[in-house]
Amino acid sequence: MKKIAVLFVCLGNICRSPAAEAIFINLIERKGLTDAFIVDSAGTGNWHIGKKADSRMRIAAERREINILSRARQITSEDFEKFNYILAMDDSNFRNIQDLKNRSSSNNFASIKKIQNFRSLFNEQEVPDPYFGGEEGFDYVLDILEDSVSGFLESIS
Ligand code: 4NP
Repeated sequence: MKKIAVLFVCLGNICRSPAAEAIFINLIERKGLTDAFIVDSAGTGNWHIGKKADSRMRIAAERREINILSRARQITSEDFEKFNYILAMDDSNFRNIQDLKNRSSSNNFASIKKIQNFRSLFNEQEVPDPYFGGEEGFDYVLDILEDSVSGFLESIS
């Protein structure tokens, strides 16, 4: 069976999208669906390429027994051919992904959506950027993402 490829995207690829990726990986593991998916994350920006996720986010996730293992990379036009779903964390990411898609000549196969389209418990229309804020912001991002990432999985199941 053909795998479903899912790419989570934020600005730096060190806070929100690595967390979303790890939450999704954890969720599909628990449901026995690991083999059905290819999962990755990327940033629209290039500042943190090659870096581990922000330690504040890794520690907050570990408290929930979620391991964030990804290394930051930047989204490329090839991702529009490789991924079935590209899920943006906020409006700015969404616009930047759309701009890149419009400038690229690749086969635009991916469906681009905002992850918060799949929320049910939180009213947030965007996943807030926790990078310049306090510790509690990282837990809040994880709470939001646990809700909307599971909503996304339900939407495609
Ligand atoms: P992310 O958070 O987009 O959730 O990875 C950020 C990380 C770094 C920066 C901004 C947002 N930065 O400006 O370096």
